[in-house]
Amino acid sequence: MSKVFVFDHPLIQHKLTYIRDKETGTKEFRELVDEVAGLMAFEITRDLPLQDVTVETPVGLAKSKTIAGKKLGLVPILRAGLGMVDGILRMIPAAKVGHVGLYRDPETLQPVEYYVKLPTDVEEREFIVIDPMLATGGSANEAINSLKKRGAKTIKLMCLVAAPEGVEAVKEVHPDVDIYLAAMDEKLNDHGYIVPGLGDAGDRLFGTK
Ligand code: PRP
Ligand code: URA
Repeated sequence: MSKVFVFDHPLIQHKLTYIRDKETGTKEFRELVDEVAGLMAFEITRDLPLQDVTVETPVGLAKSKTIAGKKLGLVPILRAGLGMVDGILRMIPAAKVGHVGLYRDPETLQPVEYYVKLPTDVEEREFIVIDPMLATGGSANEAINSLKKRGAKTIKLMCLVAAPEGVEAVKEVHPDVDIYLAAMDEKLNDHGYIVPGLGDAGDRLFGTK
């Protein structure tokens, strides 16, 4: 069964308040999403495997650690997931980045896939699927399906804000995927928007609409 983590770190919660605020303009919104993504990356990578190494300091030999295994794969869901990539890459600069392009049909709310490009060695890599919004869960489920179809075995999902409906949908379809959030909100409205949420993440990030 998926585990759900809601990060209660004060810096994440503080910045999320300004991300939600409808008075926050595109420039600041983009900067804040970037910053929160970096802080969340710090928390989400807590369980990365380490290996013992020895390093020569100017004074002697130190037994130390480096991260073991293949480089992480980050997979933003286009478009809004792009807003979180740079913040995460500042914490994990060696990560590989794949892309899954999906949009949500405004009538049916069903995700429509238009692009997929992943790093090599999909089977051996751990992936983090990234999207600011987990609303009905359709887009996240479809992106995770897409990765699994191509061989991915270890996947985490990282979102800023989720509705309970979206979390339940992912848990049901992908019980092996843990979910990392900055906030769990109240509900979805009739248009599939998260309430209170932050509005349309893609539009606010890219200044469209
Ligand atoms: C938004 C958001 C998620 C999706 C969440 O994308 O970034 O991908 O909706 O909704 P769901 O959980 O109900 O699937 P949107 O479809 O608006 O596309 P965009 O990022 O290109 O604006
Ligand atoms: N997509 C968004 O950008 N916002 C929502 O609240 C729901 C889906």
